[in-house]
Amino acid sequence: MSVMLSFQEVTKIYPGAEHFKAVDSLTFDLNEGEICTLVGPSGCGKTTAMKMINRLISMTSGKILVDGQNADRMDTIELRRSIGYVIQNIGLFPNMTIAENIAIVPRLKGWDAGKISEKVESLLEMVNLPAEEFMNRYPKELSGGQQQRIGVARGMAADPPIMLMDEPFGAIDPINREHLQNEFLRIQEKVRKTIVFVTHDIDEAIKMGDKICLLRNGKLVQFDNPEKLLTEPANDFVRDFVGGDRTLKRLNLLKVKNAMQTDPPLIRALESLQTAKGKLSELKTDHLIVVDENGRLLGTVDPAALGKTGDKVAEVVQATQAHIQASASLKDGLSEIFSHDLGFVIAVDDAQKVVGTLTEKDIKALLRK
Ligand SMILES: Nc1ncnc2c1ncn2[C@@H]1O[C@H](COP(=O)(O)OP(=O)(O)O)[C@@H](O)[C@H]1O
Ligand SMILES: [Mg+2]
Repeated sequence: MSVMLSFQEVTKIYPGAEHFKAVDSLTFDLNEGEICTLVGPSGCGKTTAMKMINRLISMTSGKILVDGQNADRMDTIELRRSIGYVIQNIGLFPNMTIAENIAIVPRLKGWDAGKISEKVESLLEMVNLPAEEFMNRYPKELSGGQQQRIGVARGMAADPPIMLMDEPFGAIDPINREHLQNEFLRIQEKVRKTIVFVTHDIDEAIKMGDKICLLRNGKLVQFDNPEKLLTEPANDFVRDFVGGDRTLKRLNLLKVKNAMQTDPPLIRALESLQTAKGKLSELKTDHLIVVDENGRLLGTVDPAALGKTGDKVAEVVQATQAHIQASASLKDGLSEIFSHDLGFVIAVDDAQKVVGTLTEKDIKALLRK
């Protein structure tokens, strides 16, 4: 993995406020395609650190490398065009429609009209504002939260390799916020931008970040991935900032596939009841998971079902709701375990193929690691 953004002993002392360092010798590297959340209490230097990347604020000392180049020596306009920028209460241009606002940088870059409108439509879909309804409206015809979502779309419009986002979802109500976070992460899976994401909310930092950069009084306190921050907080400040519900936060972060058993007790629907009974006693289990020829989930059978008259497993299979995507969070996995009385849930992939089973015990074992 190559380093896309490098902070090297970056310090900011504001003129007229020489008694303190707003950012104090900040050093960290961010790999290409990763999201780094800058988090910490209000006034800890998050916005200052971020604005030094695209030189909206000049640094007092130190160095920032963008894709290996010293940002200080790059042409300012070029630098800012290659870096998407989303801030809270972003000023949309009131005399331009939503579509025109989103298209500003693509136009500057000389994209053709077809490519631009395609992009505008897909971005509006991403931020959950249907294009046909919103593209020709003006900013004042949108709520504050909707305007903010347009700001996010605009920041992503030119496909910049690096994005800076300063509390981008801060002003948005919890439901739309959650939707935007999820959509954003889903898109990030595909586009793999390098993103610096400022938030004061530790839950958002943990959810969004591949890396978390936790600041206090301008200084770096801990730079780690979310799991490390939760399991090995560097000091009491981090421990307090993360909160007492660290285990629940980890359940949110970890995936079903991290904890599941990957040798599920499978039986194909076309097998005979006799074979199924043999397998049941051989595996010393109460249930077999029934799959089709492609390994997709059909249901379960237990000893009672296998006691019925019939020839093939397909005739006695019982449908089940006790399944979950392997990519779902362990929190959702645990919730599913408690909602069904199988004692386990069946993990499936995108194609509904059975890939594992998850029990409470599996979750405990992972949390103890
Ligand atoms: N233009 C400025 N002049 C003097 N001090 C400033 C200026 N901008 C920010 N600060 C101070 O620098 C510190 C860091 O501010 P900021 O980066 O905005 O913090 P955050 O984004 O983490 O809330 C704060 O103490 C703030 O008061
Ligand atoms: Mg700020």
